[in-house]
Amino acid sequence: MPIENFGHGLHRVVYVSRMVEMSEEQLKQEADEIIDASRRRNAAQALTGLLLAHEGFFIQALEGSHDALVAVMDQIAADPRHCDIKVVGVEPITERAFGRWSMRGGASKSDSGFDPYAMTLADLMALLRVSAVMGARRSAA
Ligand SMILES: Cc1cc2nc3c(=O)[nH]c(=O)nc-3n(C[C@H](O)[C@H](O)[C@H](O)COP(=O)(O)O)c2cc1C
Repeated sequence: MPIENFGHGLHRVVYVSRMVEMSEEQLKQEADEIIDASRRRNAAQALTGLLLAHEGFFIQALEGSHDALVAVMDQIAADPRHCDIKVVGVEPITERAFGRWSMRGGASKSDSGFDPYAMTLADLMALLRVSAVMGARRSAA
């Protein structure tokens, strides 16, 4: 679902990806780096959203202008800390669901059977919305 096919107004991208193998400790370090980069770039580009790290997967919603989303998704897609990026939704929106950018979670791989690739866009958005109000482990407004 290429972002390029949409207009230039406010859009939301939702994707899921798989973390590369890493320990809980490593994940903490990588999460700090991702948060630092996101704090800088996203605020400057008026990007908001939520990044959820759960059971060895990332689920992220990002909202902003078409151009800002294309640029940041290029960066994110090339990031070696995750793979199998599946963009589940790209849609024009009139209102943001997330008022700032933040990150939740932080669990590395387990065998709970959690599989975000099997989830619909609506289910992923519901999970992200609940996570957003579950209290911040870290945030970058
Ligand atoms: C799952 C995941 C989500 C990310 N989300 C963002 C993001 O929302 N904004 C951002 O700028 N970088 C994000 N990054 C980091 C970028 O891939 C990249 O490392 C960063 O933009 C590089 O910034 P720099 O060149 O300024 O150091 C994310 C990385 C991963 C693995």
